[in-house]
Amino acid sequence: MSYAIEINQLNKIYQKSSKTQAKIALQNIDLVIKKGSIFGLLGPNGAGKSTLINILAGLVKKTSGIVKIADLDIDKNPQLCKYKIGIVPQELIIDPFFNVYETLEIYAGYFGIKKSQRRTDEIIEALGLKEKAKSKPRSLSGGMRRRLLVAKALVHNPEILVLDEPTAGVDVELRNQLWNYVKKLNQQQGTTILLTTHYLEEAEQLCDEIAVINHGKVIACDKKENLMKLLSTKQLLISTVSQIDIEIFSHLKQLQTKLIDIDKVVINYDPEKIAVEKILRCISDANLQIKDISTKQPDLEEVFKHLIAKK
Ligand SMILES: Nc1ncnc2c1ncn2[C@@H]1O[C@H](COP(=O)(O)OP(=O)(O)OP(=O)(O)O)[C@@H](O)[C@H]1O
Ligand SMILES: [Mg+2]
Repeated sequence: MSYAIEINQLNKIYQKSSKTQAKIALQNIDLVIKKGSIFGLLGPNGAGKSTLINILAGLVKKTSGIVKIADLDIDKNPQLCKYKIGIVPQELIIDPFFNVYETLEIYAGYFGIKKSQRRTDEIIEALGLKEKAKSKPRSLSGGMRRRLLVAKALVHNPEILVLDEPTAGVDVELRNQLWNYVKKLNQQQGTTILLTTHYLEEAEQLCDEIAVINHGKVIACDKKENLMKLLSTKQLLISTVSQIDIEIFSHLKQLQTKLIDIDKVVINYDPEKIAVEKILRCISDANLQIKDISTKQPDLEEVFKHLIAKK
């Protein structure tokens, strides 16, 4: 199988400088990203996500290991690799001297795209930047600057789009617009997407595969569906008609029960081991009068917390 990105035994050590300590940022990373997938790279602050992305972008020099982009080794074909990939960096760094339109035109020139083949207007339109086309970056809001960074990454119509926390500090509407556009690129053009985000519900909605890294190591990597199955426990949330008497917990000893409010209780259970019906019978035996009831599956955030705590 050919992959969009193939990473083999990748290591990165930032050397000690006058201002910083030496730091092992990535340790023996093995990772493959299938063509056409939406791949989420998740991890807490300082896990090494941006380091990995910046190595793909050619902005950070790896210490050792092999990295291939669209089957091209980044050491042997650094220039060609840049054509294959579009990077939206975490840092909001934009040249202040050129307006939105000029910035994109200059980028197209940098990639050697002929005037007749440039898609500047189309990209500006797609990212909702039309009204700001003549504005200098300094006058753009944070969210608009992010859009410009995404636009820049798309100028050369890359096979792979890498987004490093593109929705940090971006309002809900813009986040939705951005992800809708990214999904469209993926579905209509087959663009492979690699993204990092701390909004785990976004990753849960969008990604088909997810890797979790912590302290520079991959601690989990799988299809989203498989990761979501890691936690088998579900939650039953019950609110009661009247205040809950602590006494009743002696009747619910066999259940993992937690009082979360004077009239609310949460029960963690494994559906493979105990039927909801049995739990409800225990509750009825304890004379709890139910006002409302709901169940909750563990979400990606809980799976993520579980993985990070485990390692
Ligand atoms: N240029 C650098 N010199 C020295 N250490 C660095 C440098 N860049 C990053 N680091 C360190 O490497 C580690 C990984 O940083 P990185 O930015 O890759 O993390 P991250 O997963 O992107 O975090 P965040 O979620 O906060 O963006 C951190 O401990 C960071 O302090
Ligand atoms: Mg980062």
